[in-house]
Amino acid sequence: MVKNKVLILGAKGMLGQELVRVFQKDKKYAVFGWDRDEIDITDRKESARKISELKPKIILNAAAYNAVDKCEEDESELKKALAINGKAPGYLATIAKKIDAIFVHYSSDYVFGKKMPEIIEPEGCTHICATCALHKDFIPEIGFREEDEPAPVNKYGKTKLAGEKAVRKAGGKYYLIRLSKLFGAPAKAKTAKRSFFDVMLEIGKKNKTVKVVDEETSCFTYAPDLAKKTKEIIEAKKDFGIYHIVNSDPCTWYEAVEELYMQAKLKKVKIEPVSGSEFARPAQRPYFSVLINTKLNPLRSYKKALAEYLKK
Ligand SMILES: NC(=O)c1ccc[n+]([C@@H]2O[C@H](COP(=O)([O-])OP(=O)(O)OC[C@H]3O[C@@H](n4cnc5c(N)ncnc54)[C@H](OP(=O)(O)O)[C@@H]3O)[C@@H](O)[C@H]2O)c1
Repeated sequence: MVKNKVLILGAKGMLGQELVRVFQKDKKYAVFGWDRDEIDITDRKESARKISELKPKIILNAAAYNAVDKCEEDESELKKALAINGKAPGYLATIAKKIDAIFVHYSSDYVFGKKMPEIIEPEGCTHICATCALHKDFIPEIGFREEDEPAPVNKYGKTKLAGEKAVRKAGGKYYLIRLSKLFGAPAKAKTAKRSFFDVMLEIGKKNKTVKVVDEETSCFTYAPDLAKKTKEIIEAKKDFGIYHIVNSDPCTWYEAVEELYMQAKLKKVKIEPVSGSEFARPAQRPYFSVLINTKLNPLRSYKKALAEYLKK
């Protein structure tokens, strides 16, 4: 059997390692997982040579610069972020187009946040009266849709938006997938960050009271769920373009910790909701950045995914 070659970039990252796992399970694919030791995606020539030699049918780019605060206040870090997040995705999309490969690139809810999303009214509503019958049983889904205009609030978000624009400009057979608040098994990468839930579990085991920011409403994304969904959209030959893939049930950090401690049986820990200003950070975060998926069946609630993660 001739196997389809799949190249996964950022293979040691939190998402990359799950993409490797999901594709390796399927005998149809020959999987190549590359990280920094194998390729520097900011080197356009080297990337073109190495990828053209391999000639994969599918390229998944999970490589990224994710140090949101560092690149907000340090010019040299911002340069790195722009090279990795802003420019490299365009090089990769161009290479993919040349070798006629499908290109998957991952972006972030942080491309939004400067403006609140538009609230969709029920069809026919003229906004004249607050008790309009059309609103009966109509619960609007509030959030950013795939084609909404991005407007980031911090420099990291701007670098991710630059990457999106570079991919769209290159054209070709691309899927641009936005996600938010990724969690899953810790990555093997050198710069790997532990996910929020792992950090909060440790804090909850050591403290009687824990302060948590009750803001930044958005959706969690469980890395194994996103990896599976990525494979599904490729295999289902979905239209190329932008997709929002996140787990259901948007929440603030505080609400997520309530759920975490309940599931982890840390019920005695007092969780105190606080405003973002109590934890001053260099980069502003979007107050609200819920991504709405209008193109795919929704993923399960993050609560179910979290239960699976904690069991593992
Ligand atoms: N984590 C989140 O909460 C979150 C939220 C929204 C969107 N996203 C997006 O989701 C995607 C996956 O994120 P993740 O959290 O899985 O990332 P991650 O764990 O930080 O992994 C990124 C990987 O890319 C590698 N890499 C960085 N620069 C590279 C370069 N120039 N050449 C080759 N490899 C390079 C890193 O290696 P080093 O460790 O050596 O740098 C690391 O192994 C990214 O596009 C990210 O922006 C993530």
